[in-house]
Amino acid sequence: MDSATLLARITDYASRPNPYPLYAELREAGPVVPQADGSYLIGTYHLIAALLHDPRMSADPRTRGEATHKPPFLRLDDPEHHRLRTLAMRPFGPPHSPGRVDGMRGEIDRIARELLEPFEAGRQIDIVDDFAYPLPVTVICRLLGVPHEDEPLFRAWSDAIVAAADVRPDDDSTKPDKAGDQARMEMGGYLLNLAEQRRGKPGDDMLSAFVNEPDPALRLTDEELAETAVLLLIAGHETTVNLIANGALTLLRQPEQLDRLRREPELLPRAVEELLRYEPPVHMRERIPHADIDIAGTLVPAGASVVLVLASGNRDPMRFRDPDRFDPARPDNQHLGFGSGIHACYGGPLARVEAYAALGALLPHLGSARLVEDPPPYRQNAMLRGPRHLPIHL
Ligand code: HEM
Repeated sequence: MDSATLLARITDYASRPNPYPLYAELREAGPVVPQADGSYLIGTYHLIAALLHDPRMSADPRTRGEATHKPPFLRLDDPEHHRLRTLAMRPFGPPHSPGRVDGMRGEIDRIARELLEPFEAGRQIDIVDDFAYPLPVTVICRLLGVPHEDEPLFRAWSDAIVAAADVRPDDDSTKPDKAGDQARMEMGGYLLNLAEQRRGKPGDDMLSAFVNEPDPALRLTDEELAETAVLLLIAGHETTVNLIANGALTLLRQPEQLDRLRREPELLPRAVEELLRYEPPVHMRERIPHADIDIAGTLVPAGASVVLVLASGNRDPMRFRDPDRFDPARPDNQHLGFGSGIHACYGGPLARVEAYAALGALLPHLGSARLVEDPPPYRQNAMLRGPRHLPIHL
């Protein structure tokens, strides 16, 4: 088929259960594959990694010439990005130290076990709604200092924000963005109000840390604080839900690997790295050249949308041996699941601890479990890809 329709075919909902053959087609057609809509697709590992580190590429949608309001720092360029990222990372603890996340290990394990308690053998459970979803939302709300009873508010808000953040927001191009903006504002307003209540009353949560920062040079404005808290909630939770659900699905599809993990639970951390490679929660990220640029022999004009298909890079046979095989003991696993370069995910340590807790708690139950539907129903989003439901019979 025509390689100029690849992005349209990838984002087509029918491809959601298995986009990987299209990624193989992309790497064959590549390295730089112009699309009918004026964008450029890139799916090979080394080129994706190089572009993630290339200062000529912008993450800011305003580089496309679009008049939109200032985005959160995930989509800002340096030096603005660097300042906000540094400030937002501070409450996680000093870099390269276990800090706050390690201190929560025991609690995260307990939350995971408690979520599974009500489900006895013979029952049906939706791994997404009953387990993968509540775990990270509970953890990130606890970190930020959001009271437990307010957690349900976040589901509706984050669903709307994530729908609007797709590479191709659904059908009616005006509607999802509006709903997303509205949800972003409401969530930001809620968090700001909460932060306000903590002013002068420092607790051990991150909102308190942000709002009670004594050094004026390190203080966030109200708007920045709201944006940052919303970003942490969204970035830190939809992704983790997908990682846990993709993990359960992968293991249920491969009983021999599941058995192996049950026999050798010390392999779990490596199995989670392999999941981040093999079924990553984030499939693509967009970058935009500041000026006309030659990318591997193709002239890409300033302002063009360059879509880096991280999930394709993760399956690139020029980088990974036998890339379509799920190997929980894979050595040399420098995947692109958390991105790379200045925007590389700093929530990785937390996401990993949550995935170890979740899959560790699930392992004893999965041996006799079976999938009710394969493939399960997927979410619309092609960029943040994962099952919408994952019903299993225990
Ligand atoms: C399995 C879970 C997760 C996955 C797969 C994931 C993946 C990613 C990826 C691929 C990026 C790079 C985006 C880009 O280059 O455009 C990113 C950035 C980011 N992630 Fe994560 N993430 C996860 C969990 C988390 C958690 C738990 C948090 C925080 C609590 C978090 C916070 C962030 C932030 C703040 C950024 C933006 C960093 C920047 O722009 O400098 N993520 N994440």
